Amino acid sequence: MQGLAGKVAVCTGSGRDNGLGAAILRRLADEGCRIVVSDLGAPDKLLDSDDIGVTDEMEAVAEDMRKRGAESIAVPCDVRSESSVHQLFDTIVEKFGQVDILVNNAGIGYLMRGFQDVSLDEWKVVLDVNLTGAFLCTQHAAGHMIKAGNGGRIINIASQAAKSGFPHLAAYVASKHGMVGLTRSNAIEFGEHNITVNAVCPNHVTTGLGAKQNEYYSKLRGQTLEEFMSAMRKRIPLGRPGLPEDTAAAVAYLASDDARYITGEALNVSGGEEMH
Ligand SMILES: NC(=O)c1ccc[n+]([C@@H]2O[C@H](COP(=O)([O-])OP(=O)(O)OC[C@H]3O[C@@H](n4cnc5c(N)ncnc54)[C@H](O)[C@@H]3O)[C@@H](O)[C@H]2O)c1
Repeated sequence: MQGLAGKVAVCTGSGRDNGLGAAILRRLADEGCRIVVSDLGAPDKLLDSDDIGVTDEMEAVAEDMRKRGAESIAVPCDVRSESSVHQLFDTIVEKFGQVDILVNNAGIGYLMRGFQDVSLDEWKVVLDVNLTGAFLCTQHAAGHMIKAGNGGRIINIASQAAKSGFPHLAAYVASKHGMVGLTRSNAIEFGEHNITVNAVCPNHVTTGLGAKQNEYYSKLRGQTLEEFMSAMRKRIPLGRPGLPEDTAAAVAYLASDDARYITGEALNVSGGEEMH
């Protein structure tokens, strides 16, 4: 990939070793970027320690980046909090002098429930993390990018759920559709600053979040996990669910100079499962 060496890349929600965020950063580190690992760091209401990247995990991901030869720091950030987001970008600029690539990856996708039973708190936490978090991080990152005048890349990790509905995931689906709207609006406004803004829309990937969805949906449909996964494989033209590396490759491409004329897109990375 052209143009990634030396760039400073930050990915939110990247503190879990088996998550998409860590895979994205591994790929960007291998392409020569300087790496900022960021995640919530500590559990919170509706966000258990089993489901979030805690400080030790974040530090382990940053250490992995250093072992791959990349400069790397880990910075905790709750993307719902403007002061926390402000602090994240101040820390990045203080340490590396610039921010070139923002990946909005923090997300909650495991609060599944029939629509009539969704509480207002559950609705809000999903919208706050998945959509408001991307809004806040984009505002702060773009502020630094515009001031530096060197252009930039903003990449939003949306989902197949940004284009199609799924039962028992109304808040998630609404937040991911919203993320594509945010992508398109930002692409228009930031074009004059040579900042491209794109979304990546993966289908199922068996991360921590993905495994919880499989467990829930197989029970909902009265299938064993293997029956559920087998049906999934059959409906995907390329015959398998996504891997974290598939999403990471798409992100690296969109972050590279090769994608300099691409903005406002929502790229499916779904083995052909999603086609619009
Ligand atoms: N796994 C899939 O099948 C799949 C498919 C499409 C899209 N996605 C999207 O990819 C992204 C990563 O998901 P994943 O599958 O790697 O799951 P994951 O649970 O490993 O990653 C989500 C991360 O978001 C972090 N997070 C949660 N609340 C946060 C907050 N308030 N502030 C900062 N970080 C916070 C978590 O700590 C976690 O590290 C999500 O946006 C998800 O919606 C996942």
